[in-house]
Amino acid sequence: MDDLRDKYIQLIADAGDEAALEGLRVQAVGKKGEISLQMRGLGKMTPEERQVMGPKLNALKDEINSALAARKAALGDAALEERLRGEWLDVTLPARDRRQGTIHPISQTREEVTAIFAELGFSVAEGPQIDSDWYNFDALNIPGHHPARAEMDTFYMHRAAGDNRPPHVLRTHTSPVQIRTMEKEGAPIRIIAPGRVYRADYDQTHTPMFHQVEGLAIDRDISMAQLKWTLEEFLRSFFEVEAVELRFRASHFPFTEPSAEVDIRCSWEGGQLKVGEGDDWLEILGSGMVHPNVLKAGGTDPNVWQGFAFGIGIDRIAMLKYGIPDLRAFFDSDLRWLRHYGFAALEQPNLHGGLSR
Ligand code: PHE
Repeated sequence: MDDLRDKYIQLIADAGDEAALEGLRVQAVGKKGEISLQMRGLGKMTPEERQVMGPKLNALKDEINSALAARKAALGDAALEERLRGEWLDVTLPARDRRQGTIHPISQTREEVTAIFAELGFSVAEGPQIDSDWYNFDALNIPGHHPARAEMDTFYMHRAAGDNRPPHVLRTHTSPVQIRTMEKEGAPIRIIAPGRVYRADYDQTHTPMFHQVEGLAIDRDISMAQLKWTLEEFLRSFFEVEAVELRFRASHFPFTEPSAEVDIRCSWEGGQLKVGEGDDWLEILGSGMVHPNVLKAGGTDPNVWQGFAFGIGIDRIAMLKYGIPDLRAFFDSDLRWLRHYGFAALEQPNLHGGLSR
């Protein structure tokens, strides 16, 4: 019994980890362990032998159990020590820089656009991203059967079975804000309405969610010439180059008459997009004189008031200005991309400081 005791005390002292210790526990005092088997042998002994051996075996078992527990505690302490050494951290070190986020190029662009139009006397209006089909289509002179509805790749909201009202839509453009502003403010009006819009489309220059800024100016004597001047002035300021070259293309929108789309001269060389040079044209906005039916829908008398409206793709002009070749990257939330293209926080764009320092 002394040999048994010496053997296990030594093995326990040498055990390097908890798994080895558990192996020894099973081997010594587990159900079929060496000491347990000896204890089972007590039954075959004479009462006298049993009286001597019983307490001795019990004492041995207790000794082994407490040796196991002591060793286990020691191993635990050592492991904790080891971890504390390894995971040591100096909390007095200065914070890492570059922990601050950056302003997303879309937010930056939106602020720049707002700053420029603010100087021209336009204030900011807003509308909901989920809108009724009346605001998104009908009020804008796009009746139910009109092909423009299909062309816009509209996302429709769900209606409960049996509810036959027309479904709400994710707005396909910011133009419904024209109607809402007319209803709310009445003429004269001079607003821009930046925000998110949605269409089911996806490639290098299209994403299902993108951004537009609507412009609306209504007064008694607003003309197409003023629309043209306003857009030229805006684009020159925005791109911070005198050489911005625009192409006004006769076009059609149900909510403007006449209508013009505006393309900007650019080059795409080597995947790099540059404004003001090259032989390519990129469409960046739609515009025109507000259709009398739209004025009427907004409660504005077309015999007294007239106006111009435009819708600019914010993401498009951000790509152009900052040389970002793929629109989809805007919405990937890739930190490396955001650090590369993002802007320092707290630097508000304004015209007197230079828009994009
Ligand atoms: N709403 C149009 C679009 O999404 C743009 C536009 C706005 C055109 C205002 C004319 C006037 O394409």
